[in-house]
Amino acid sequence: METLQIGGVSSRALADQYGTPLYVYDENKIRKQAAAAMANFRSKQFDTEVVYASKAFSCAALFRLLAAEGLGFDVVSGGELYCAMRIGADMKKVYFHGNNKSDQEIEMGLDAGIGYFVVDNMMECARLFDIAERKRLQTKALLRINPGISAHTHEYIMTAAPDSKFGIYIENRQQIDAVIQKLSRSKYVKFAGFHSHIGSQIVDAGSFTKALDTMIDFLAEMKREQDLDNLELSIGGGFGIRYVEADAPLPLGEMCKTLISHTERRLAEKDVHLSKLITEPGRAMVGEAGCTLYTIGDMKESGDKNYIFVDGGMSDNIRHALYDAEYTGVLANKCDRPSEKTYCIAGKNCESGDILIADMQLPKAAPGDLLAVLSTGAYGYSMASNYNRLGRPAVVFAKDGQARLIIRRETYEDQYRLEV
Ligand code: LLP
Repeated sequence: METLQIGGVSSRALADQYGTPLYVYDENKIRKQAAAAMANFRSKQFDTEVVYASKAFSCAALFRLLAAEGLGFDVVSGGELYCAMRIGADMKKVYFHGNNKSDQEIEMGLDAGIGYFVVDNMMECARLFDIAERKRLQTKALLRINPGISAHTHEYIMTAAPDSKFGIYIENRQQIDAVIQKLSRSKYVKFAGFHSHIGSQIVDAGSFTKALDTMIDFLAEMKREQDLDNLELSIGGGFGIRYVEADAPLPLGEMCKTLISHTERRLAEKDVHLSKLITEPGRAMVGEAGCTLYTIGDMKESGDKNYIFVDGGMSDNIRHALYDAEYTGVLANKCDRPSEKTYCIAGKNCESGDILIADMQLPKAAPGDLLAVLSTGAYGYSMASNYNRLGRPAVVFAKDGQARLIIRRETYEDQYRLEV
């Protein structure tokens, strides 16, 4: 019987050594994505930077790997910044995102000497101004603009509707001008340009080029009206991945190439110059590289459903419960057997919505078999919880036939340690 190999390591051997549920990443796949972005997100006309959106999955081993490939980091909290600091990431390539950064987080970023704050609103701008003044520490700011473009994606992951909580709506010129005016008076915070992000799991280039057109038109207006040129522009992340067979995302390298050439063309048409173009892929960097191994426990028929119960669930992957996200999987220890039965894969959390895959065809399964749910590398571990006090799984990197533990399994004692 054939067993699924990940990074040249047998999934059975991984399960035996590290236990299940287990997050396993094929390290070379991450490296390949990073290299594709670094090689193709390049221009002779302006500087470029690829920063990894840490929210997709953050840990020291991954940060080290991506830093070595030359990527910077998009962080949205003191916690993500802390991890980047701990591995010695280049702070000049750190972009601090998020709405409602605390004063403490702003101080932490300034003390660390991070390159950029991506400012969400006027109140944050004023706080950043004051704190930088008090500490006499320099940084740069990008203002997050909501370009009002809705990409075709799940409603909950859409960020650019006119009433979105993120950024300042592009037509709200008064608020935008107020931020630029305020920062023009700062000795410490240099206004460097704009940021926009239109959503997540976007599989075609069309929505991105539309957003680029909007942002470059906006830059042309800034040049005309405010004499601002040579700014920096971040186009956010959001590049889709393949979860199920029907998904056909443009490969990351192709996407990068398309966006660069589109930007170059549009800048020339509008007679606008950019000093730097930035992108922030999260999901595309790690999503397909990761899978989750579960051990099948009890099984039962209920109504017309054939349930397979696995030893994890929504506590290690909440995406189906939260977004109706679709996944596929394989019976990892029987992956050469033909599919013959439709199953519903459910977890062990106490909630009816605790489903990982609503229905999928598998070979005949039995307790003790291993189920691999594929493409769980992004927003899986990073959105995991301790619901029902299940410990968070361990995480392993596999490469060239070798595996290494990068995050150990959370124990009951780990959780109990926080009790006072
Ligand atoms: N930049 C900004 C400003 C963002 O808000 C995000 C994602 C990214 C970059 C990275 O997007 P990516 O390349 O990973 O699509 N929990 C949801 C996804 C939330 C994304 C939030 N922002 C999910 O599991 O699908």
